[in-house]
Amino acid sequence: MSKKLLFLIPFGFLIAGIFGVFQFLQPSATAGVKVVLQPQNIALVRQGKAVYLTHCASCHGSNLEGQQNWRQRLPNGMLPAPPHDATGHTWHHSDSYLFMVTKYGIERLIGQTYANAMPIYEGIISDQEILSVLSYIKSTWPGEIQARQDRINARGQR
Ligand code: HEC
Repeated sequence: MSKKLLFLIPFGFLIAGIFGVFQFLQPSATAGVKVVLQPQNIALVRQGKAVYLTHCASCHGSNLEGQQNWRQRLPNGMLPAPPHDATGHTWHHSDSYLFMVTKYGIERLIGQTYANAMPIYEGIISDQEILSVLSYIKSTWPGEIQARQDRINARGQR
């Protein structure tokens, strides 16, 4: 190896180190996975529908219609499950926000205690299953709503 290349080795470590620290400082919620929903991916959407019916439909409804009077808090102070169809506010959020809510729950996402009935799916279903179920949900929205949610992603909003 030439002297010039040897000289580059510590420099390489430096870059790797900076990159590592940068990664570490990133909100770890998506664990370095860039989440991009794939509503056009037929196989993924089919899988997601099965995941949805098994894990989500009991609260969010088999037709994604949510629970009755979902905007009104229950006597216990918690909100009912909102719809995941176009009438809800799921599409107001970015892919990574939806992924994090599903995997880690609302409290961890907002960083404060907040009594809510949404389960935490970390360790219950895989990241890939979360991607599939959210892709399925997105696939049910009309094209215009999908496009609006695409713009929320593009703007880097939550
Ligand atoms: C035990 C009932 C229950 C089950 C099962 C459930 N959820 Fe929820 N979910 C809720 C409730 C209740 C909320 C609203 C919580 C709040 O805002 O206080 C919610 C909220 C959400 C939100 C946030 C929506 C928004 O507009 O902010 C997402 C995303 C979500 N759920 C996805 C899922 C997925 C995906 C599954 C299945 C893997 C699932 N949920 C299963 C009850 C449930």
